[in-house]
Amino acid sequence: MRTSFKVLLAIGLGILVLPVALQSRVKDTVHNLNRSGFTVPNAEVCRPCHAPHNTKALEVGALWNHDLSGGGWALYADADANSVFSGSSRLCLSCHDGTVALDSYGGATGTQRILGSENLGTELRDDHPIGVLYPTSGTRYNLLGATTANAIVDPIETPAGQSAGLEDGRVQCSSCHRAHGTRAADGRMFLRVDNNGSRLCMTCHISPG
Ligand code: HEC
Ligand code: HEC
Ligand code: HEC
Ligand code: HEC
Repeated sequence: MRTSFKVLLAIGLGILVLPVALQSRVKDTVHNLNRSGFTVPNAEVCRPCHAPHNTKALEVGALWNHDLSGGGWALYADADANSVFSGSSRLCLSCHDGTVALDSYGGATGTQRILGSENLGTELRDDHPIGVLYPTSGTRYNLLGATTANAIVDPIETPAGQSAGLEDGRVQCSSCHRAHGTRAADGRMFLRVDNNGSRLCMTCHISPG
């Protein structure tokens, strides 16, 4: 009786705990370059993106260790290019606009650029707008949640513990994604909100769907 209860409890906890543990660790994702076909010295996980010393932190913060994209992206007309260039989107684009090799970090010049659909290119007008202000009035956006500093939670659509985000009131890559894994239950795409049923979209956009 006791044993089977423990077994059941263990299975139950396993189901509850395992997905969370897997999603939250960058080590277990494709952002661990060791898992994406590269050999990072010491099999270090953080090093392609951060280092403790001699980094580009004065330019972009976050003890950034990866070579940076020079910018030159084509953005939506109402985007503020400087917010993209000096914010965290540039960190993502330093691998994802395909202009800088993935293995260019820590002063070494690499050779392998990101391929396929993970390469967004420098034409960013065929992607969701970034660098644009999140509206603070009107009826088409979730304004209620946006009053919580830089976090947007739609009480109807957003699962507990998940939120879209803003950077200085603007939409950036980090509005929808996290670099370090995901809190979304489906575990895909580093999403901040599980997009099952388009819930990520509806966290900000109210009317459609
Ligand atoms: C693929 C690149 C990448 C890897 C690998 C990575 N990070 Fe990050 N990290 C980022 C980016 C991008 C940001 C900035 C995110 C932002 O400002 O929204 C960041 C921000 C941070 C921050 C500051 C913000 C915060 O979340 O507290 C810390 C601390 C951090 N990373 C630690 C780590 C550690 C420790 C590792 C290794 C276990 C790691 N990162 C691996 C890309 C990465
Ligand atoms: C050091 C380079 C690097 C940086 C910086 C980086 N990525 Fe990635 N990213 C990768 C690689 C490598 C892959 C896997 C590509 C593949 O599978 O072919 C990837 C994959 C992804 C994927 C697809 C995940 C999946 O489940 O298939 C998303 C989404 C993503 N990155 C978003 C981001 C965002 C957002 C940022 C900034 C917060 C960022 N990346 C910063 C290298 C990077
Ligand atoms: C408005 C939300 C939103 C913003 C802003 C956003 N993304 Fe995404 N991104 C998504 C969603 C949702 C997916 C998953 C699409 C799917 O499942 O097919 C995705 C997928 C991706 C992928 C995988 C592409 C693929 O088709 O395999 C990469 C890489 C990525 N995003 C990087 C970025 C980067 C870099 C930025 C900033 C320049 C960014 N995203 C901004 C919502 C967003
Ligand atoms: C963080 C909040 C946020 C999230 C999450 C979000 N959006 Fe948006 N979206 C915006 C804002 C703000 C604009 C308006 C940009 C502008 O015109 O200034 C916008 C614009 C758009 C547009 C109009 C683009 C154009 O050509 O003018 C479409 C379509 C759209 N979003 C679809 C989506 C979809 C699909 C998703 C889910 C994958 C999504 N959005 C998630 C904030 C968000």
